[in-house]
Amino acid sequence: MDSSDAGPDKRPAIHIGILTVSDRCFRNEAIDESSKNLYTLIQDKRILQGNVVVTKIVPDEGDQIKSTLVEWSDQRGLSLILTTGGTGFSPRDVTPEATKAVLEKEALGMTLAMLKQSLEVTPLAMLSRLVCGIRGRTLIINLPGSVKASEECLRFVCPGIPHAIDLLKDKTEEIQTTHSSLQSRGVEIPTSVSGIT
Ligand code: MTE
Repeated sequence: MDSSDAGPDKRPAIHIGILTVSDRCFRNEAIDESSKNLYTLIQDKRILQGNVVVTKIVPDEGDQIKSTLVEWSDQRGLSLILTTGGTGFSPRDVTPEATKAVLEKEALGMTLAMLKQSLEVTPLAMLSRLVCGIRGRTLIINLPGSVKASEECLRFVCPGIPHAIDLLKDKTEEIQTTHSSLQSRGVEIPTSVSGIT
């Protein structure tokens, strides 16, 4: 690791791949604005201590999505893969199915965090069929296709990413630090749940 690669909390930068899934971007009929925006957000270290080490555009074809996810997880050993696009209801939207096919474990909590907070932005978030999960030591997260939706969802899921990567990589010290700090807060039950004010 290059020491300049480490964040203020001394964690090494997360190696990230961004996969755009879009027939139109693949055919150069549209500009891949979402991936560019995600790239800038990450490289500016504004929301995540990460480095984008690879980007790619594939059409909405299950086989091409799957083979890229497998190569980036198994051969390149990326810590995090973000996909953008193809999560909706149109007949060509197959990103969630292709992702599920290569996952070893699903991470429903991450999906739920994105959906719950997206529904507070727009009821149309119910139309995004986002899937998140783990293949080997790689975390794979589906984001919707538009610049707006993909940035919102990345921001919603970001708080869970560093600890998820620590767990995937067996980073004992970092895991202990996070758990100790959380435990030291004691039991916290929101009044909306307990009914006690
Ligand atoms: N989620 C957030 N946070 N913000 C949005 O604007 N747009 C929705 C949904 N999720 C949206 C969102 C809409 S309109 C669609 S159709 C779906 O994402 C599917 O997006 P995709 O097919 O481009 O992946």
